[in-house]
Amino acid sequence: MTSFKARTAAATLMVLAASPAFALDWAGVPGKEVVLFYPGQSSLEWVLSADHGGAPKVKNGKACRECHLGEEKDMGATLVSGKKNEPTPIAGKPAFLPVQVKVAHDDQRLYVRLEFKEGTQPDAKMDSEFATKVTMMLDDGSLPEATQAGCWGTCHEDAARMPAGGTADRSKYLNRTHTKPGRQGAGDELVAAADLDKMRAAGQVMEYWPARLKPGAAALAVNGTIFDKRQESKPTEITAEATQADGTWTVTLSRKLSASAPAKTISAGKSYTVGLAIHSGHTARRFHYVSLEHTLVLDSGDADLVAVKK
Ligand code: HEC
Repeated sequence: MTSFKARTAAATLMVLAASPAFALDWAGVPGKEVVLFYPGQSSLEWVLSADHGGAPKVKNGKACRECHLGEEKDMGATLVSGKKNEPTPIAGKPAFLPVQVKVAHDDQRLYVRLEFKEGTQPDAKMDSEFATKVTMMLDDGSLPEATQAGCWGTCHEDAARMPAGGTADRSKYLNRTHTKPGRQGAGDELVAAADLDKMRAAGQVMEYWPARLKPGAAALAVNGTIFDKRQESKPTEITAEATQADGTWTVTLSRKLSASAPAKTISAGKSYTVGLAIHSGHTARRFHYVSLEHTLVLDSGDADLVAVKK
């Protein structure tokens, strides 16, 4: 028979492990499948170029999902194979990852829960420490380029490991912060500091929530913004919890609904754009899976992801 002391110790451990996200009852929250696909080097500049059939319509404001929703698996297959936009394909890499997404909130926080299997991933040996990393990008409508193109609003031809990346270690950025966006990317010349300040004050930044995952260890979350470059914010406002069982990762990202700039306050009645990315198989930089742009609202509304009130 277990002693009273041992039982108390076990109960205490359970209480400590029951952090807010895990305490949430997800059973009644409907899931939505979002397919992440391998994008190769298909930058925003490529998308806007004559090499992409959709370019004229994109220039007229058509969103990626209007043509591509439901095509993610096929696009991933084309791109991961090296047939298109990928000079260094990783042999045997799966073309896409279906992710079951559930979103909820309480009075304080938003919770985004991702459930996925990575399949058989070859070891790309780019990140020896973390085999798996998950990132969510978030905008609140301040960036039309995010509403139209999700992550592609920040993905450029001259970022590191992209076709015009050269030896520079350029991160993601928004074209609006640069003076000379062009087919090869926008380089390093920024618009006037006063204009950057105005954009920042107007909330024209993309938020990103990344978490690094290691089986059996606590997930490592940070957060930050993409503006003229990618920049980590400190201290981090994001918490991440991750478990892996039978090859399935369950990852919950969370942060307070209210936030001070540059982070975005998340409130009912407003529509948000979310983009998801997963690095799998010890990859880094561009060798990830990405989603098209998806909408998120709190409580109710016409959106891909409706955060259920708990
Ligand atoms: C008007 C419809 C349309 C829109 C809008 C559109 N595309 Fe496309 N896209 C196409 C067509 C058609 C192809 C296939 C032929 C080609 O590459 O031109 C394609 C191909 C692609 C490919 C290569 C994969 C493949 O299967 O060939 C990628 C990546 C891509 N599009 C990304 C995007 C992104 C990102 C956006 C939004 C910024 C976007 N597209 C918007 C029509 C569209």
